[in-house]
Amino acid sequence: MPILNRIADFHPEMTAWRRDLHMHPELALQEHRTSQVVQDHLRSFGVDEVHAGLAGTGVVGVIRGRGPGGSIGLRADMDALPILEETGAAWASQTPGVMHACGHDGHTTMLLGAAKYLAETRNFDGTVHFIFQPAEEGLGGGRVMVEEGLFERFPMSQVYGLHNWPSLPEGEFYWREGPVMAAVADVTIGITGRGAHGAYPQDGIDPVVVSAAIVQALQSIVARNVAAIDQAVLTIGSIQGGSAFNIIPERVTMRGTARWFNPAVGDQLEQGVRRLAGSIAEGFGAKAEVKFVRTYPATVNEPEATQRARHAAESVQGVARVREMAQPSMGGEDFSFGVSDFAGVKGLANAVGWRYQ
Ligand code: NI
Repeated sequence: MPILNRIADFHPEMTAWRRDLHMHPELALQEHRTSQVVQDHLRSFGVDEVHAGLAGTGVVGVIRGRGPGGSIGLRADMDALPILEETGAAWASQTPGVMHACGHDGHTTMLLGAAKYLAETRNFDGTVHFIFQPAEEGLGGGRVMVEEGLFERFPMSQVYGLHNWPSLPEGEFYWREGPVMAAVADVTIGITGRGAHGAYPQDGIDPVVVSAAIVQALQSIVARNVAAIDQAVLTIGSIQGGSAFNIIPERVTMRGTARWFNPAVGDQLEQGVRRLAGSIAEGFGAKAEVKFVRTYPATVNEPEATQRARHAAESVQGVARVREMAQPSMGGEDFSFGVSDFAGVKGLANAVGWRYQ
């Protein structure tokens, strides 16, 4: 039976899995119920091995095919976001303030569906590892699994992943060789001035005014320091300080995100933030403390693995519904730790473009 038809048979079951996961979202590194649900499903499919506990809640299922051959990994992330769900759906989150708003419930469900299908059919040679990782959202659960020996315990030559992309047409896959998701740094600038009453600013050093000057100046880094042909973005998303309308606070904290692909551009962004924040604060008589924490490297798809994933998608969905992404995304992904920190994995392909209901 064609793959699509057999998977279509699973559709009601997979919808039920996803809605169950959606109703019970868990934040990064707290995916205890989700981990148990995944383990229970894998065992019920009759996979050869189920390993729990990598990075706390991570799970690896192993399915061996009919004959000897290579070994690959398929990966999904399991964590949710600290967002209050207001969809009103019958399967809406039952945990206030936590929601599967990035669709990792869908990723987990898709990988479970693949495990069920391959455990049932075993129409391949070699070994497939099903990697369910915690904490993709900011805490780098993928890195922790790698550090805890994922690739030593489960040797594999290629790892494949995907991310759903709601803005793309339903049922289409998108692929891209090379850079596909950006490198990420969390930026924090703490500005210390001197508090005073708002009526007597001469008694203080106003960190609110300093933060305003810094946020304006930071815009010049991408515009004036980074070459026009390179991709980079620097966004300050939070400026916090003060609690009263008429009091100059002692301190303001600015927080933002920096994204890039070329590591040299990451260095330019860091140097620019440090230089401008430090010198502007000093010019006002204040102090700036800059933290530029590189969290995720760029995800760079290996061409051969990407083409293999493309052809697999084409064989299921048809050539017309599998397209090349016109440009990479400035979003970030901890899938990148699979190759950047471990030289043994040669292939990496992270496609996007599957919608579910
Ligand atoms: Ni996501």
